[in-house]
Formats: sequence, C-alpha cells, structure tokens
Amino acid sequence: MTLDLNRVLVTGGRGMVGRYADFGLRPFREALDITDKTQALAFIRTAKPSAILHLAAETDMRYCEAHPKEALRVNAEATATLAKAAAVGARFVYLSTNAVFDGLKESPYDEDDIPYPVNAYGRSKYEGEEYVKAYAKEWLIVRTGWVFGGGRAGDKRFVGRIISQLKAPEIKAIADNFGAPTYAKDLMSTIKELILSGKTGTVHVANSGIASRFDQAKYITDFFAYHGKITPMYLRDLTGIPSSLKNEALVSKTLRLRSWQEALSEYLKTEWPHNV
Ligand SMILES: NC(=O)c1ccc[n+]([C@@H]2O[C@H](COP(=O)([O-])OP(=O)(O)OC[C@H]3O[C@@H](n4cnc5c(N)ncnc54)[C@H](OP(=O)(O)O)[C@@H]3O)[C@@H](O)[C@H]2O)c1
Repeated sequence: MTLDLNRVLVTGGRGMVGRYADFGLRPFREALDITDKTQALAFIRTAKPSAILHLAAETDMRYCEAHPKEALRVNAEATATLAKAAAVGARFVYLSTNAVFDGLKESPYDEDDIPYPVNAYGRSKYEGEEYVKAYAKEWLIVRTGWVFGGGRAGDKRFVGRIISQLKAPEIKAIADNFGAPTYAKDLMSTIKELILSGKTGTVHVANSGIASRFDQAKYITDFFAYHGKITPMYLRDLTGIPSSLKNEALVSKTLRLRSWQEALSEYLKTEWPHNV
C-alpha cells in the first residue's frame, strides 16, 4: 500500500531543510516541541502519522560544543521519544550528518564506514541514530552534510554568508577542508522518493563531487562576477571551531545526485535573483 504523504509528520519543518518539504504536517515548535515528551506523545497519538520525518535539531555546532547536555537532550533524547512514539504505525525517517564521522578518512565517507564522532554535535546526532535503531520498528537514517538552501530570507549558512560579503573588498574561505555541498531542495526530493519507495536502513544523500569551502566561495564569486579578492585560509588558522574537520564529504553506494556545481547554480539563479 502506498504511504500517504499528506500524513507524514515533519518535525523542524520550518528550518532550512524542512522548508523544502511540499508534503505532510509541519507543526510550529509551539504545537510540537520535541523536548516536551507529554506534548510530543499526545501530538503523535492524535495525528497518527504514516511516517515521521524527524528534522528538528539543535544545529548550532558551537552552541552544542558549549552545551553538550542540551545537545544530547534535543538531538538524542527527543529523538528517542519520537522513535518510540512511532509505534502508532509510523515509519521513522531521521536526518543525520557527516559529523558522525571523524574527518580523518582520505576519501568520502560511504554507508559502510564506521561512525566515530569527535564533537558534541556529532555525538548527539550519532546517539540519535542509535536510538532510532533501538526503538523504531521501521526506520531510515539519511545522512547528509554541507547543505545549502533557504534563499535570501532563510540562508544564514555558508552560501548565504558568502553572498552577504559580495560588496566587501576581500572574501576569505578555508581551502583545506572538504565536503559534498548539497542543495536542500535535492535532499528533500530524494528523501521524498525514499519514503515513497519504502527504503529502510542507512543511506547517504549528497550532491555529487567534493569541494573545499574555498572552491564553493570561488564558484559563488565567479557566478556573481565579484571584483574583489578571494583569499584561501587554512584549518591551522582557526582555533576552537568544532566543525573544522578535514574531510566532511559523503558519498552513497547506491544513490547518485547531480553535481554540486549544477545544484548550486540552480540555487543561485532561482533563489537569489536580482542579487547584490
Ligand atoms: N544544514 C546542514 O548542513 C545539515 C547537515 C547535516 C544534517 N543536517 C540535519 O538536518 C536537519 C535539519 O537541519 P536544518 O539545517 O534545516 O536546521 P535548522 O535550519 O537549524 O532548523 C532546525 C529546525 O529544528 C527546529 N527545532 C529545534 N529545536 C526544536 C524543538 N525543541 N522542538 C521543535 N522544533 C525544534 C527549529 O525550529 P524553530 O524554527 O522553531 O527554531 C527548526 O525548524 C537537522 O536534523 C540537522 O542535524 C543538517
């Protein structure tokens, strides 16, 4: 029987990734605070969702590093609550991250690599994964990383920050850490297909190819014909930043999405019109 997409409960549906969900129930935090066990259980018992797409998380890595218990409460313990509540007959889909890996591998991480998180955010998301496996009956874990999206109104991440500097004389970006930049729109349409196909297990979803932050910044500055100087920086120049892993790139053994350049080009064209 085909799963009813209208009855998918999307947590974090107003976030950068969630805003691309064109299906399901997307309650505001006031109606469903995932850390409020009583409220979450009551909501799920009443809504009886066909699936729970769990996106809500504390995603600020610096905040997580400074408040590891809070990171665990939001990213792991609340995930356990929701995974148990999926016993109403809902398939459980959890969005996880490249931060479950240690960043030391010389090539992109695939689904067979063993997680070993090295920062508070990564540990909390990995613990979330473990709870999903322990408590949900039918589950899918989707790992992604270096997501961009949200456009002028909602992009506070790397791409949005580079665009906001296009009037400055110089833009700096790290040249020696690598990821697989991924358009939130492509991520969400792939998740939707995976939900409809009944996929279970763990899968990596990322646009194809790898890039450094410098490569990404260069692509953006070229796209907007930036006249200033673009300067590479190196991880050794940064101190105290928990996200500074060398290798954050993901690849999938089964899925292949379009290239990050093609996806980024569409994003800039369609979601940043009439820029600067
Ligand atoms: N962005 C990336 O590069 C990336 C990479 C890998 C994995 N992910 C994962 O993808 C998911 C979505 O990330 P995102 O980039 O869309 O994050 P985001 O923009 O920070 O959005 C997070 C969402 O979670 C909601 N939320 C946080 N705490 C909540 C609570 N206690 N109760 C209910 N809702 C709560 C927020 O609600 P408010 O709107 O009310 O604040 C927001 O809608 C996360 O699970 C993240 O770990 C993201």
